[in-house]
Amino acid sequence: MTQDELKDAVAAAALDEIRPLLGRHTVIGVGTGSTANRFIDKLATLRDDFRGAVASSEATAERLRGHGIEIFELNETGTLPVYVDGADEVNAHLHMIKGGGAALTREKIVAACSERFVCIADASKRVECLGDFPLPVEVIPMARSYVARELVMLGADPVYREGVITDNGNQILDCYEFMIDDPEAMEARLNAIVGVVTNGLFAARGADVLLLGTDQGVERLT
Ligand code: 5RP
Repeated sequence: MTQDELKDAVAAAALDEIRPLLGRHTVIGVGTGSTANRFIDKLATLRDDFRGAVASSEATAERLRGHGIEIFELNETGTLPVYVDGADEVNAHLHMIKGGGAALTREKIVAACSERFVCIADASKRVECLGDFPLPVEVIPMARSYVARELVMLGADPVYREGVITDNGNQILDCYEFMIDDPEAMEARLNAIVGVVTNGLFAARGADVLLLGTDQGVERLT
């Protein structure tokens, strides 16, 4: 199967996963990226079965609205029953690297406010050790060089993602050459650098369910 077919398969599996949670009053969290987009397109078929969605990016909000799905602000919904999103890498503990699409901060906020995180990914995203994919770090623009120097001291090779401004008006440093042995400890360490808004390690709040698209079918890992 192609990577696109695997993404379609996990998007369909996610629909089955969340269907029992849907009802007239249900608002769900929806992630960002090409896999999440496929989920959104399938979610549109259930548009009349739930109330609406909280989007993790402006791009996702636009796509959801395009399907006639109502968008809610997280401040008006409280805790969400479920959040569905992709990942750039995911390990056996369902810790992830996210933020390839620069939406990491809102993704982490929506994930934090959700009872269940369903990660949808094709098999290429499954890794033993996080870090082959360059770890995104969202920074306040005036702190970019300072944060980069701190990241170098931690052993990373940070590269400014030129031309990218996040939905929050910030910038991204991508950390290359940065294999992560202890994701929870590194997530906390990076958060402690002044000027860092968010880092793309989702370990303190990892996924609860991973739907992994493989040539043998969709694996459900918890
Ligand atoms: C965006 C993300 C995405 O979930 C991640 O980049 C995966 O994207 P895709 O499904 O396109 O591979 O974190 O910030």
